[in-house]
Amino acid sequence: MTPTISTFLYLIAGVCFIMALRGLSSAATSRSGNLYGICGMVIAILTTLLTPAIAKYSGIVVGIAIGGAIGAFIARKIKMTALPQLVAAFHSLVGLAAVFVAGAALYNPTAFGIGVVDAIYTASLVEMSLGTIIGAITFSGSVVAFGKLQGLISGRPLVFPKQHLVNAVLGIVVIGLVVIFAMHQHHSIFWIMTALSLILGVLLILPIGGADMPVVISMLNSYSGWAAAGIGFTLNNHLLLITGALVGASGAILSYIMCKGMNRSIINVILGGFGTDPATASAAADASDKPVKLSSAEDAAYMMGNARNVIIVPGYGMAVAQAQHALREMADILTSKGVKVRYAIHPVAGRMPGHMNVLLAEANVNYDSVLELDDINSDFGSTDVVFVIGANDITNPAAKTDKTSPIYGMPILDVEKAQTVFFVKRSLASGYAGVDNELFYRDNTMMVLGDAKKVCDELVKALKGGGH
Ligand code: TAP
Repeated sequence: MTPTISTFLYLIAGVCFIMALRGLSSAATSRSGNLYGICGMVIAILTTLLTPAIAKYSGIVVGIAIGGAIGAFIARKIKMTALPQLVAAFHSLVGLAAVFVAGAALYNPTAFGIGVVDAIYTASLVEMSLGTIIGAITFSGSVVAFGKLQGLISGRPLVFPKQHLVNAVLGIVVIGLVVIFAMHQHHSIFWIMTALSLILGVLLILPIGGADMPVVISMLNSYSGWAAAGIGFTLNNHLLLITGALVGASGAILSYIMCKGMNRSIINVILGGFGTDPATASAAADASDKPVKLSSAEDAAYMMGNARNVIIVPGYGMAVAQAQHALREMADILTSKGVKVRYAIHPVAGRMPGHMNVLLAEANVNYDSVLELDDINSDFGSTDVVFVIGANDITNPAAKTDKTSPIYGMPILDVEKAQTVFFVKRSLASGYAGVDNELFYRDNTMMVLGDAKKVCDELVKALKGGGH
């Protein structure tokens, strides 16, 4: 295949990736977006495989077979709630690949067309340095993020004195090493630079608390994109450059959207220290002594069956319980009884962007009845019943009233303005941010304690059994 044809095909693949991102921006077009992404990737892989520069296919075939088998296995086994840590694990591999490519280019520059050993072009040395630094930070940072999300490392922010100063000094030393490496091309400097970047990755992510991990994952996603773009420079591969830049930019935009959803600045997230701490945990424990109104699935069925309108607020607990199908069945019965049922989606409900939308789409919930916070928040005041299922932080008024609360400033769904609010969860425990929710103790709140799916199943049974 001539370079002109492969450049043209890479361009088509790049356009497919852009169309994929566009399609994935809404639930209704996400399937076609996915299809574009698959087409782009097929074109990209086939074009690369047909490049005359490839001397032997055996290694590639073995790599595809092993990687493909592992990928297929994980895709079938992975639980929706474990996706964030899976994404973190995948990012770590992208980072590691960037380090390996930069290392390979250092030892065999001729193969990459960037000069000869000890006489590599200066621009290529800088590109390799950036590739290995961003790659190493992405690798070790993603491993720590994986550990935190998987519960292998504490989700609490691990802070130590002068951490920002240590990180800043380390960052400056690494930049200094890039200059020395670009001037002298010493292999040892390259590896010291890589090792320090690995340490920096760990130090950057350790102080960040569990509640901010999704933002961090998205940031690491962005870094992995820039690392891939760096490899694109080293390999002189335009497609890798385009794709890396797309991933880098979209990851950065996603981080920004999430921060906006939590009303935090990205700097505040990066500097770390947000998450469950012993003080807020004990506050939650104290609060459990306050009186609450306990209710049952039957009561909720009766109230909702007789309501004019109901708003369902799903959260992380719905995802854990995989209650979306039973929930849809419940909503369908209510709709058939003439009740107006809608869903309110908070931008950071669950544990990843679009988490609730994906689950509701999986259960074939009509997109028109699924509304974003800004579109539905003013309707709670005129709503008969709000059914909060497995959600907590996203309804907590402390975000508006308590300046000391870690969620202060986060926009919340104003569920308390409705006539009656049902909370379905297993206990009075706090949510991800570790803060107590005073709504549990309000007069118009009824707690239905139990697993979300089980409660929905009971509700469906009760609704089917009872008349209007
Ligand atoms: P949370 O505040 O974490 O509350 C979820 C609740 O679900 C828990 O209080 C838990 O209470 C309940 N639960 C767990 N398993 C359950 C089950 N099987 N059945 C019924 N209930 C169950 O979740 P949320 O309201 O969705 O808020 C999301 C949080 O994640 C926010 O703090 C947000 O800032 C953070 N976050 C999210 C994102 C994205 S992108 N989504 C990004 C960054 C941060 P029990 O243990 O009592 O059952």
